[in-house]
Amino acid sequence: MARLVVVSNRVAPIEEGKQQAGGLAVAVMAALKKTGGVWFGWSGETVDADSGELTIARAGAITRATIDLSRRDYDEYYNGFANSVLWPLFHYRIGLLSFSRRTWEGYLRVNALFAEKLAPLLRGSDMVWVHDYHLIPVGERLRERGLENPMGFFLHTPWPAPEVLIAVPTHAALVKAMCAYDVVGFHTESDLHSFANYIRDETGGTVEHLGEEGMRIRAYGRTVLARAFPISIDTGAMTAVAQQAGRTVAARRLRESLVGRDLIIGVDRLDYSKGLPQRFEAFQCLLDNYPELRGKVSFMQIAPPSRSDVPEYAAIRRELEAAAGHINGRFADFDWVPLRYLNKSFSQKALAGFFRTARIGLVTPLRDGMNLVAKEYVACQDPDDPGVLVLSRFAGAAAEMREALIVNPFDAEGVADAIQRGLTMRLEERRERHAALMAHLRRWDIVRWREEFVAALASVPTAAERRRNIA
Ligand code: UDP
Ligand code: G6P
Repeated sequence: MARLVVVSNRVAPIEEGKQQAGGLAVAVMAALKKTGGVWFGWSGETVDADSGELTIARAGAITRATIDLSRRDYDEYYNGFANSVLWPLFHYRIGLLSFSRRTWEGYLRVNALFAEKLAPLLRGSDMVWVHDYHLIPVGERLRERGLENPMGFFLHTPWPAPEVLIAVPTHAALVKAMCAYDVVGFHTESDLHSFANYIRDETGGTVEHLGEEGMRIRAYGRTVLARAFPISIDTGAMTAVAQQAGRTVAARRLRESLVGRDLIIGVDRLDYSKGLPQRFEAFQCLLDNYPELRGKVSFMQIAPPSRSDVPEYAAIRRELEAAAGHINGRFADFDWVPLRYLNKSFSQKALAGFFRTARIGLVTPLRDGMNLVAKEYVACQDPDDPGVLVLSRFAGAAAEMREALIVNPFDAEGVADAIQRGLTMRLEERRERHAALMAHLRRWDIVRWREEFVAALASVPTAAERRRNIA
């Protein structure tokens, strides 16, 4: 079998159990764990020297090859174009876009550096799998270096509708770069259609529908297979961890602190796409509209800081601190604090125990590629007495998880109603919904995601085969 070389900006740390917040690192680690491979990306370090110092380390079956970034590259590529242009754009927040030619050039420069440092590590038979919005042009740069390996790209965020995408002045260059890959993957059919619409309307390319196999795109002189591959979790492992985690000291202490109250839980990076101000407002509505719940529920929001050097992230942090203070100031009593707001990250094991304890999993992003927390919450429930998932219709997960209580995060009263409904739902209905969600998560786990993507990549004719066909 061909060696798999994964390329992403964020690479999970080697140390087992080291805390990390972010779906890509969690999912890729779970996907690579069994089969192994090379994982190439940013070390997470910014240095005074030039970018590019390479470190190679082995962790079990995974070879981790990482490069450092200079302060300037970190600012222009990571904080700049990736997280101040592409992230807001792909999450439909055009108003937050901060484009400049300087950060675009920085983005291209770092992508070229990734290709330069990766190319000597590649063997002719490797499959290259590039991940996420930071690294769209890496494939094109590798092709320019003459690499003919099968190359796939998977986007972990939404792909926006063409009328949103064209807000970034360099949209054509980005889409052309996508077409350097053999396979491009999205989380949902809706993202796939947005991509196909752009190809049809803006590039003069063609789109051939292949049913479940996705779409064959012909544009910029290349043929690309585009398809939805909904990402998932290691369902079996998560369920097993949750069974144990319910008995850990942390989970026991959490339960004791609740003194019989129902727990509502939210776990998100502190990111404006996650709809946290709206979620806090919905919790206020719950206490306003259902006063019988005062003193009876606790809402715990875990929100580890993320991308703190980007101004919008500092702003949302300040906004949430004020909102949390306001809610507790208004409703808290001498023996009850309604909202526990934690700006720190927890290990997956600790989270599993917390999820299992919570009656309601509250996942209400304004826009999200998939949202793994929604899936993890369900996998961690006790099937005999499961909690209820309240899920935003704007998370990619909503396309698959129809048995959750689906809400519109902009409708605070609607979200409050759904929480109340979940808190009072009969055991039989909770079990039925949970069993249906679990059946899906068992079928579509992270291994299936990897296998489907790799099989699609393996099915693409190699460059040599293509040449033979033409000759
Ligand atoms: N996560 C974690 N510790 C935390 C917070 C989050 O391990 O304190 C993990 C969480 O369990 C999930 C991932 O980070 O696996 C978040 O992925 P998701 O798709 O929900 O959102 P993203 O952060 O990728 O936007
Ligand atoms: C999302 C992105 C990932 C990213 C993660 C954490 O899941 O799709 O690419 O790794 O957030 O963000 P960070 O900026 O810390 O890598």
